[in-house]
Amino acid sequence: MSTTGELVRNLIQAFMAGDSNSFRSAAEKYVAEERRKNHHILARDIEKLLLNGASTTASTKTFSLIGTSVTDLPRDKERGIVLVEVMEPKRTLESLVLAQNIQHTLDTIIQENRKADILRSYGLRPASKILFCGPPGCGKTIAAEAVAQALYLPLVLVRFDAIVSSYLGETAANLRKVFDFVRTRPMVALFDEFDAIGKSRTAEEEHGELKRVVNSFLQMLDGFRGETLIIAATNHQGLLDSALWRRFDEIVFFDRPDSEAIREVLLRNMKQLGLEHGIDLKSLSRDLSGMSHADVERVALDAVKTSVLADKHPIDTKTLKASARNQKRRVTLTNNMTSKPETKASQLPTTNEGETSIAENKEECNA
Ligand SMILES: Nc1ncnc2c1ncn2[C@@H]1O[C@H](COP(=O)(O)OP(=O)(O)O)[C@@H](O)[C@H]1O
Ligand SMILES: [Mg+2]
Repeated sequence: MSTTGELVRNLIQAFMAGDSNSFRSAAEKYVAEERRKNHHILARDIEKLLLNGASTTASTKTFSLIGTSVTDLPRDKERGIVLVEVMEPKRTLESLVLAQNIQHTLDTIIQENRKADILRSYGLRPASKILFCGPPGCGKTIAAEAVAQALYLPLVLVRFDAIVSSYLGETAANLRKVFDFVRTRPMVALFDEFDAIGKSRTAEEEHGELKRVVNSFLQMLDGFRGETLIIAATNHQGLLDSALWRRFDEIVFFDRPDSEAIREVLLRNMKQLGLEHGIDLKSLSRDLSGMSHADVERVALDAVKTSVLADKHPIDTKTLKASARNQKRRVTLTNNMTSKPETKASQLPTTNEGETSIAENKEECNA
């Protein structure tokens, strides 16, 4: 291990030689040294400088930021598959249309994590284990990305399809490797759709596997004390019991948009072409009620595409209504294809008798 003096010397030497690769590598070593000495604020500050000032490609930036090359990422032993994906977060919270209470909760989580060192100096912990729940297409994944972006941290996507192995004991071992990895540096680790694994298995096999993985995940989550912000996301909050949701510091329920939010999503996505004067967007938004943000976004983008191809700007009522009809048809089709008998909560990890599920407890989610 080098002394701080040597590290600074290497930095200056690389700078004077105009060697940006050596400079970056020296700076990363310096950051690691400061972190080892528990100087987390300084380490993170320098990392932010490195991230913002870099002229390299996104992936190089992210990998260098967390000091990890692809070969260092956790892998499944038998199959050699990489278990996580490292991303540089791009989407910002401002680009999302969020209900006020969600916005507020996310802001609080971000503030607590930005000032984690101050909280720790008072013996307090920032909210660092978060559950995002709610129907598909309402912003869980993208909000996790935006939170990482706001914290200048890399987003690490945990690939559950890769984690689940047919080899006995390997699944838990894989999860352990992922937790060991996310402990190494501050990052935002997204365990996305962590309850939707093994889709190709039979129902019976799947439930056994699901129970095992969710249980292992929760045990490791309980024991986790790193600086990383862990976000677990699920579309099936009805399957999760309160024993499970109590383990999280915060639960955020991403609901479908109301008509005002629908209008906002439409407007934002059609901004580039503009709208014909006199379109009744209010009544159209009411008409789309029940759709997810992603569905509404598709209506808008479909109208934009049609108008561009027909060389008709701005977008007119007829085009927009046709796009809305198309999307409604798609939504109905998808709903019919995916509607299957619900898994009972009793088939999932142990719960105390008489406790209610998240689905019955939406207020808890919104709290
Ligand atoms: N709240 C939102 N505001 C703006 N766009 C959204 C919102 N939620 C979803 N979208 C759009 O829909 C897409 C899918 O959202 P995603 O975050 O993947 O949904 P989920 O993870 O809840 O299934 C996003 O990439 C984004 O373009
Ligand atoms: Mg998602």
